[in-house]
Amino acid sequence: MKKLGAAIVGCGTIASLHADGIIELDQVELRGVVDPKKERREKFSKEYQCPAYECYEEVLQNPDIQVVHICTPHYLHKPMIIQGIIAGKHVIVEKPVVMNPTELAEVKKTMELYPDSQVAVIFQNRYNDTTQKAKSMIDNKEIGELVGMKGLLTWYRSEAYYQESDWRGKWETEGGGVLINQAIHTLDLMQFLGGELESIKGHVDTRSLQHIIEVEDTAEATLYFKNGCRGIFYATNSYTENSPIEIELHGTEGTLSLRNQQLHLYKNGEKHLVAEDEMMKKGKAYWGCSHEVQVADFYRCLIEKEPYCITPKEGGVAIEMIHGIYESHRTREAYIMKEAKSQ
Ligand SMILES: NC(=O)c1ccc[n+]([C@@H]2O[C@H](COP(=O)([O-])OP(=O)(O)OC[C@H]3O[C@@H](n4cnc5c(N)ncnc54)[C@H](O)[C@@H]3O)[C@@H](O)[C@H]2O)c1
Repeated sequence: MKKLGAAIVGCGTIASLHADGIIELDQVELRGVVDPKKERREKFSKEYQCPAYECYEEVLQNPDIQVVHICTPHYLHKPMIIQGIIAGKHVIVEKPVVMNPTELAEVKKTMELYPDSQVAVIFQNRYNDTTQKAKSMIDNKEIGELVGMKGLLTWYRSEAYYQESDWRGKWETEGGGVLINQAIHTLDLMQFLGGELESIKGHVDTRSLQHIIEVEDTAEATLYFKNGCRGIFYATNSYTENSPIEIELHGTEGTLSLRNQQLHLYKNGEKHLVAEDEMMKKGKAYWGCSHEVQVADFYRCLIEKEPYCITPKEGGVAIEMIHGIYESHRTREAYIMKEAKSQ
């Protein structure tokens, strides 16, 4: 069988996790990397032994490349997805799929016009063994009915983090702060595990990074699910270290607690370890360990001609949640979710 050709667009912090995912696959070949910064693309092309391109258009015109991995700053996601689809490529885009619901609508519209292109959104933590196990235990009612949940992210981001990539910390180029960049994974997992959302009410603020960034570094929200479950969410980049994310799922017959790459079940006064994630081989532990698994699953769908599951519509729920938190902060009213997952 002819191999699929892939290219990585943006050779920054996250790009090597995509490259490592691609080189593991027998039926896929990394055929290019793109970055306007010469030293970055050359370093990457040397390490992964593939051609380096200065601009995205060169990759779009290359018939030997069928799949593009978009690992660029947030403001480039929407135009790059749309250009990719129109050029007939499949697209795998880093979170956030886009910066807001208006951009999301444009992407979905383009996808309707070009149904042959598949678009995947990276939410690697959905693939963690702990997440998969929690999902199946909830679906199988092993903790009874889910009545509450909590998602907590308390991380540290320094001034240097915002200086090293100048698109971060700005509304125009990042599209938000802790919500769209760090806590988007937690919000996505909360709705993935909790089910369809009815509404969301929240508040944002900028605390320790006030003089460094224009976006929020802290946010909190209450999530109201259609099934009656209530979620409590808190996220900040204003802590003093990157402590593990915590997700707790409270059921009528037990509680699941996800922390430190372990899932524990608390039931009948006992504590059981029910799943554990592999440690990261590379990168940062708090990124989660499943990029390679997600990349492999997307290519499996392309090869087997199956529809892929984390589409812009699915990955866009978190975008509407973030928009809802900003809106409810502004209006002081709960934001009613408009886009049903099933639509
Ligand atoms: N899934 C995760 O856990 C995770 C973790 C970190 C980052 N990310 C996401 O990955 C994406 C990139 O983040 P990062 O931290 O690697 O950023 P970064 O700033 O380190 O890298 C971005 C790269 O894109 C390049 N670039 C800019 N304009 C370009 C263009 N027109 N064409 C090609 N390349 C261009 C930059 O030169 C830079 O090398 C973001 O969407 C971010 O949210 C995801």
